[in-house]
Amino acid sequence: MTAIATDRDVRKLTGRIGAEIIGVDPAAELDAETVEFLNQALLEHKALVFRGVPLTDKQQERFAARFGELTTAHPTVASAPGAPRVLPVDSEKGVANHWHTDVTFVQAPPKATTLSSKVVPPHGGETLIANTGAAYRDLPEPLRLLADSLWAIHTNDYDYAQPEESLDEQTRQNREEFTSLAFRTAHPVVRVHPESGEKGLYLGGFAQRLVGLSVSESRDLIRLFQSYVSRPENVVRVAWEPDQLVIFDNRITQHYAIDNYDRLPRQLHRVTVAGDVPVGLTGERSRVIEGDASHYTG
Ligand SMILES: [Fe+2]
Repeated sequence: MTAIATDRDVRKLTGRIGAEIIGVDPAAELDAETVEFLNQALLEHKALVFRGVPLTDKQQERFAARFGELTTAHPTVASAPGAPRVLPVDSEKGVANHWHTDVTFVQAPPKATTLSSKVVPPHGGETLIANTGAAYRDLPEPLRLLADSLWAIHTNDYDYAQPEESLDEQTRQNREEFTSLAFRTAHPVVRVHPESGEKGLYLGGFAQRLVGLSVSESRDLIRLFQSYVSRPENVVRVAWEPDQLVIFDNRITQHYAIDNYDRLPRQLHRVTVAGDVPVGLTGERSRVIEGDASHYTG
């Protein structure tokens, strides 16, 4: 056995979600066996944390690309200058303190999201990541049967945590950029994971309405299902350190960036791996209602 194999380890962060990976350098050229090891760990733990791993954008892109083709930075938001696959997640450009799964307003949302820390605030700024498979299994049977039958409309013109009239000019511009193209997609509320077959609640902040129900009925039910996602038992809290990399399975998690760092400088670089069109319990695929995202995943 080689020293590298002996040193490699997966240390669970909580019982239900999250693990730290020891002894794998994401900046290195990874062999197929290591990539398979990481992919299996990602399927089991949903979110993987690597500590003490400074990464250039190119290295982060190369790491993410071992899990599949990359998307461009975002369907509407500009990339980092000269790096079309890198989305700067910057405290100056607003906050994401709502539970969401990345980019679910398009038909084929990312498979996985990688985040590499660039500037870390002196306190706070953690990211919460929730296991939506565990949330689904927590549902009492009558609610599970209800969820099994539902579809939701996801849109990028969602119900923002901060109302329009309270925005400053910068935030208003950011929101305008985010919604410069309108996207609406219908996804099953229960998604079957394409690799593991695990069922998970597929909702989050972009899910605005349930098909066949009124807005107020939809809100009440989405809130009820979301309360199972955000249960502390289903959540890992990732505290950011310098030179940290996190990858999470965007098909069966939601996340929330806590707005608790006094808006001090905080910057992560995000690179996402393209994903499949979600499939529900009956085998039916998600369908586009509005918007062409071919420039994003094409
Ligand atoms: Fe996000």
